[in-house]
Amino acid sequence: PSWAERGAARIVTQTRDEQGKVVTRVTKKSVDDFEMTKELGEGSYSTVYLGKDRASGKVYAVKVLDKRHIIKEKKVKYVNIEKFALNRLRGSRGIIHLYYTFQDRNSLYFVLQYAPNGELLTLIKKYGSLSLDAARYYSAQLISAIDYMHTHGVIHRDLKPENVLIGSDMRILVTDFGTAKILQPVSPPGGQTPPEYPEKVRASSFVGTAEYVSPELLNDKWCGREADVWSFGCVVYQMIAGKPPFKAGNEYQTFQKVIKLQYAFSAGFPTVVRDLVRRILVTRPEARLTVHGVQQHYWYRGLAWDEASIWGRGPPRPL
Ligand code: ADE
Repeated sequence: PSWAERGAARIVTQTRDEQGKVVTRVTKKSVDDFEMTKELGEGSYSTVYLGKDRASGKVYAVKVLDKRHIIKEKKVKYVNIEKFALNRLRGSRGIIHLYYTFQDRNSLYFVLQYAPNGELLTLIKKYGSLSLDAARYYSAQLISAIDYMHTHGVIHRDLKPENVLIGSDMRILVTDFGTAKILQPVSPPGGQTPPEYPEKVRASSFVGTAEYVSPELLNDKWCGREADVWSFGCVVYQMIAGKPPFKAGNEYQTFQKVIKLQYAFSAGFPTVVRDLVRRILVTRPEARLTVHGVQQHYWYRGLAWDEASIWGRGPPRPL
């Protein structure tokens, strides 16, 4: 059958074994390799299915995008950004793993790590709010994942509890990099030192989700790492309060609240988290806590910020 009928072009690689015999391997997956069972979620431009690899029996989240729709809505750029960002961040804890991408006549496919425990949003809603210990546990993982993204020149720009998934081991997995900003290294690549990235870049017209968007994205159209820290602050607030700090009847009113820094703490909001959130939800990005400032906050006192202390332990009770 032709590639279009089979689902995707197969890339055949030929190598030689120890005896010098040619070994032919098919490395490119196609949609036929997966048994799509239930639908996991639907976005504006994609549908995610639970997909079982017929050969290995392993399960994945297969994101399917309709080519015609993507082209018509001028979202090709965002699909490429998502693929590029996930490839750049591959192998890191706290970031959803991209296993394969392929396409057929009508669709693009992203085969992603399956996060069986759903969204952080669902967890917050299920319990109303999280315990101080659970919020500290998830937020420490989230700020570590943000630190990793920023070190590798990726600003997410749409961090929110819907985009924080929970893996089989109850560790967080940040997803949805379609609206990320990929920074170009300022120093030429290939040097002896790790690449360096600019502090901030001109952000076209993109604004994330109203409730989590930083004031500088609304006012100045500049995008820096600070925008992700702002969203992180909103997520921390929501884990404790059960709802985001800036929320109104419509998007415009929400933007107004963000610009005016119009939010409040409920009476029972713990002092230590109040202090952290106050230092993050600061209008001027230069005055906001940085990722490292967050990690040094006294809420996280005693946390070593090494691999074992962030990722090496299971979650505390959610309530
Ligand atoms: N919904 C969207 N992406 C998902 C994933 N990777 N795992 C589980 N559910 C999802």
